[in-house]
Amino acid sequence: MTGGTGVLGRALVERLKDRAEVRVLSRREGLPTGSVRGDLETGIGLAQALDGVDAIAHCATSADYRHPERDVAQTRRLLDERGDRPLTYISIVGVDRIPFGYYRAKLNSELAIAQSGAPWTVLRTTQFHDLVLRFLRPLTRPPVAVVPKLTVQPVDVGEVAGRMADLVLGEPAGRVPDMGGPEVTSLPELMRTYLSVTGLQRRMLQVPVRLPGRVMAAFRDGAHLAPDHPDGRVTFAEYLESRRQADGTVTNPY
Ligand SMILES: NC(=O)c1ccc[n+]([C@@H]2O[C@H](COP(=O)([O-])OP(=O)(O)OC[C@H]3O[C@@H](n4cnc5c(N)ncnc54)[C@H](OP(=O)(O)O)[C@@H]3O)[C@@H](O)[C@H]2O)c1
Repeated sequence: MTGGTGVLGRALVERLKDRAEVRVLSRREGLPTGSVRGDLETGIGLAQALDGVDAIAHCATSADYRHPERDVAQTRRLLDERGDRPLTYISIVGVDRIPFGYYRAKLNSELAIAQSGAPWTVLRTTQFHDLVLRFLRPLTRPPVAVVPKLTVQPVDVGEVAGRMADLVLGEPAGRVPDMGGPEVTSLPELMRTYLSVTGLQRRMLQVPVRLPGRVMAAFRDGAHLAPDHPDGRVTFAEYLESRRQADGTVTNPY
């Protein structure tokens, strides 16, 4: 698995560990036994990580929004080494409709996978609750939280990992139905939830989203939402509450 140390990858390792032997490729030192140190950017460690593996879950991202094509090059490097092993890739709802650099790179990775000639599965989901939390937390540093008026449908990463685990262990299925969270809501509404769960006192100023025209139009059209697939059950409030109960705080998950 690539990305097995990330937010999704850690949850996926948990979902898979009783059902399969999992090997994680990571750049980090001090990895647990069975993991392989390597780097998709250079290809170091890739052959060793793939040796004897039956199926691949590709969850890594450099999250480099200035140079998003790095992710495509890394996906291609993985494809070059994978032989005919099935590969399951995690993507984002709307990557084919929203002309935003990181999304274009996800789409290009999807295309490279689909054209690679070996079996594949691609799951697109909406944003994880964790990403929303990472975005909202810093907005509460000033006394007035300035929050963009954006509609969102975040999903619980544990539930995404559950779906991914079934896909990784199942028959390759090509592009599978999108997966969204249980509620189509808005960032200001989720900020209210965050303030309520954390007990923080902040005034909120709701502002229009500032994005280039075509990107904005796609978001306005809801290209990033999956209202027909409200598959997730865990709401943002429940996610925050479970984090608070786990360690008494609601810290950045990244
Ligand atoms: N976040 C969301 O809301 C969301 C929604 C839908 C889809 N997705 C997709 O889900 C995937 C995982 O997202 P995430 O938020 O869980 O990411 P994350 O927490 O930022 O994790 C990124 C992972 O990528 C690995 N990685 C980065 N560069 C690497 C390299 N050069 N070689 C090997 N591994 C590398 C990191 O491993 P090391 O640091 O250990 O090397 C880490 O495990 C991404 O493809 C993302 O586009 C995310």
